Amino acid sequence: MKSCWIIYNGSLTSDKFRDQAELMKEAAERAGVQAFIKKNYEVLMNLHEELASPPHFVVFLDKDILLATYLKNAGIAVFNDPVVIETCDNKAKQYIQLATHNIPMPETIIAPKVYPNFTIEGSGYYEKVLETLGLPLIIKEGHGSFGMKVYLIETEKDFFEKVDALRGVDYVFQQFIATSRGRDIRVNIVGGEVVAAMHRSSQTDFRANITNGGVATVIELTKEQQTIAIRAAEAVGAEFAGVDLLFGENEQPLVCEVNAAAHIRNIYTVTGINVADRMIAYILRKLS
Ligand SMILES: Nc1ncnc2c1ncn2[C@@H]1O[C@H](COP(=O)(O)OP(=O)(O)O)[C@@H](O)[C@H]1O
Ligand SMILES: [Mg+2]
Repeated sequence: MKSCWIIYNGSLTSDKFRDQAELMKEAAERAGVQAFIKKNYEVLMNLHEELASPPHFVVFLDKDILLATYLKNAGIAVFNDPVVIETCDNKAKQYIQLATHNIPMPETIIAPKVYPNFTIEGSGYYEKVLETLGLPLIIKEGHGSFGMKVYLIETEKDFFEKVDALRGVDYVFQQFIATSRGRDIRVNIVGGEVVAAMHRSSQTDFRANITNGGVATVIELTKEQQTIAIRAAEAVGAEFAGVDLLFGENEQPLVCEVNAAAHIRNIYTVTGINVADRMIAYILRKLS
C-alpha cells in the first residue's frame, strides 16, 4: 500500500487550510493510499538524522519551500515540485517566467530592489513607470493570496505612498485590465489538462477572489482560454495549478497568475468536481 503525507501550514489559523488538507486526505484514501495530514512544523528538519518512516509521496499544500526542498532531497516525490512552488510563490519571479514563454498577460514591470534610505521621488524611475502604465494601475506584492496584497492605484499620491511602503519587498507594477474589473476565471489544471473552471465576479471590489466577496459560477471555457491556462501552468512547470485568467479587450484571455497550491473547496462546491481525486490519480499514474 502506498502512503502519503499531506502538508499544510499549521501556523495559519483559518479553517480553510485544514479543510484543503482533509479534502486531499479523503481523495487519497478513496484511491487506496494511506494518508497522513501533517502540519509543516510537525516534520523535524534535523539535517543530522534520517527522516523517520518517509511516505511514498507528499502533497505539498504549503509554501514552506525549505521543507519541500528538504523532503525532495530525502528522496520523496513532492507535488508540486519545490522549484515550482517557489516560482509561483513569488509573483515577480513567476511573471518573468510567464513572459519568457510568451504567455499573454497584462503589461508588467518588475519593481527594483531599493533600500530604506533611497530617495524615491525624483529618482526618475517611478515617474517612468507612471508614464509607461498610466493610472489607474495595479501594484502587486510578490507574496500574497486571496487578493490581500493586490492594490488598485488611482492617484499619484497613492502610488508614491505605496512604493514608499514597499521598500525591501518584491512586487510588480501592472497594467490595470479595466475590462476585467471585478471578474476573472479560475482554471484548475492537473497534469496539463483542464479539470474544472469557474467564473468569479464581485460587485464590490475590483478583485474577484471569493475570499474577498466574489461570487462563483460554472463556466464553459473557450478553446483559447483552455490553451492559455494550460500553457501558463506549463510555463512555470506546475503539474497542479489554479490559473487565474482576466478578460482583456474583446474578452481576450490574459493570465493573471498561477497558483501552485490552489484551494479546491470552492471549485468543488460550484462545479461538483473534486480536483483532489484528479490530483491523486495523476500522482499514482506518475509513480507507477
Ligand atoms: N492587472 C489586473 N487588472 C485587473 N484586475 C486584476 C489584475 N491583477 C489582479 N486583478 C484582480 O485581483 C485579483 C487578485 O489578483 P491575483 O494576482 O490573482 O492575486 P492573489 O494571489 O491575491 O489572488 C484577481 O483575481 C483579479 O480579480
Ligand atoms: Mg488569484
